[in-house]
Amino acid sequence: MRAVIYYYSLEGNTLSIAERIAEGTSMDVCRLVPQKAYPTNGLKHLIGGMDVIFKKCPKLNALTKRPEGYDLIILATPVWASSYTPAIRSFLVDHNLSNKKIILVATSAGGDAGKCFKAMKESLGESEIVGEFVIKSPVADNEKSANATVDLIRKCMGAVN
Ligand SMILES: Cc1cc2nc3c(=O)[nH]c(=O)nc-3n(C[C@H](O)[C@H](O)[C@H](O)COP(=O)(O)O)c2cc1C
Repeated sequence: MRAVIYYYSLEGNTLSIAERIAEGTSMDVCRLVPQKAYPTNGLKHLIGGMDVIFKKCPKLNALTKRPEGYDLIILATPVWASSYTPAIRSFLVDHNLSNKKIILVATSAGGDAGKCFKAMKESLGESEIVGEFVIKSPVADNEKSANATVDLIRKCMGAVN
């Protein structure tokens, strides 16, 4: 079973989770990087939120890993405006993952990820979703619970045939 994690992270929380999930495993990691970076200042909610609402698909830098060769794909995103991030939308629009097993991971500032996962599942169509996990950020302030959820994600990966 070949596994990869694709993630987007603006401020490092989802990055930290992606690295923890992959640590000590043979899985690959691929960061999704929009060619035009989102701001990290006070404008981030306005600009990021609008792009979610208008379903924008920002151009991404070339992927370091193509999804074709993998059986299991972890998609990790921050929750933005109760949904998933534009970079993940671009990735899902560009790649057909219908024959893959998928684990969904979200980080949020405390909000529920239900709507985010529902929207991702609608975009994924026929992929087999084998797990959904949400982690509260800032991850550094919630180390124990973040690590416990990472353990659950790794168990979920281990249970996939
Ligand atoms: C544009 C934008 C919209 C956000 N919307 C939500 C939201 O609806 N619910 C929530 O709980 N957190 C929201 N957040 C907070 C992020 O989901 C949270 O801080 C996340 O862990 C950030 O991940 P990152 O550090 O990998 O970028 C939002 C953050 C941004 C920048």
